[in-house]
Amino acid sequence: MRIVLLGAPGSGKGTQANLLGQRLGIPQVSTGDLLRDALASGSELGRRAKEAMNAGKLVSDEIVLKIIKERLGMDDAASGFVLDGFPRNVAQAKALDKLLKKIDRPLHKAVLLEIDDDILLQRLTGRLTCPECGRVYNLYTNPPKIDEQCDRDGSDLIQRSDDKQATIENRLRVYRAQTAPVADFYAREDKLATVDAEGEIDEIAGRMRTALNA
Ligand code: AP5
Repeated sequence: MRIVLLGAPGSGKGTQANLLGQRLGIPQVSTGDLLRDALASGSELGRRAKEAMNAGKLVSDEIVLKIIKERLGMDDAASGFVLDGFPRNVAQAKALDKLLKKIDRPLHKAVLLEIDDDILLQRLTGRLTCPECGRVYNLYTNPPKIDEQCDRDGSDLIQRSDDKQATIENRLRVYRAQTAPVADFYAREDKLATVDAEGEIDEIAGRMRTALNA
């Protein structure tokens, strides 16, 4: 299946994309993770993305489309993918449409994770990530067994540099102005499903399966 996950920062796109990808045997493709990897590797592309990411703004379409084309061209994406954090504006949604039409593999569904803003703040300020395996925890809702250490590999967990209150508020503004219209784009194409993203992670995963019939 070829799936897009939409939703505000902290709505659970990464968490659900990971579970869905494992369940369906297809890769989770997160533009946020790809950009953070580029940044950590010190590449030219990462350097160009850094300022926008730290300010909670969108990285240029030119950079994002380049990395997404490369990633979707890899062998493991041939049988499908779960896109997490892309497309982020209508221009990116149109570019994805064009790319998938060209290879005759249209998108099956876009799923919008709906959630109240006050819950988002707790989820984002409490998020901790393993720099080794990428596993995501939450201080309040999903803590590691040992303080600030990954359950899987024991690495010290880190806080994302854009998970600070001022940057979070900017990310939410950018989401409302630029990303929310992407849901209307998919609704017009008759590809949009909406899922209530409040509640336990497994419960939401169940709603996703129902929405996708998967
Ligand atoms: P990106 O990495 O995509 O961040 P985001 O969209 O802001 O989303 P998040 O990763 O913050 O949240 P999420 O919805 O994945 O939630 P998660 O599952 O982690 O983008 C970062 C930056 O990169 C952007 O600001 C931009 O600069 C740039 N960028 C990326 N893509 C781009 C693009 N296409 N174009 C241009 N620029 C781009 O969950 C959050 C927390 O909540 C975790 O702690 C988790 O454990 C917890 N949690 C999850 N579900 C639940 C639940 N049901 N109950 C309790 N806790 C939960």
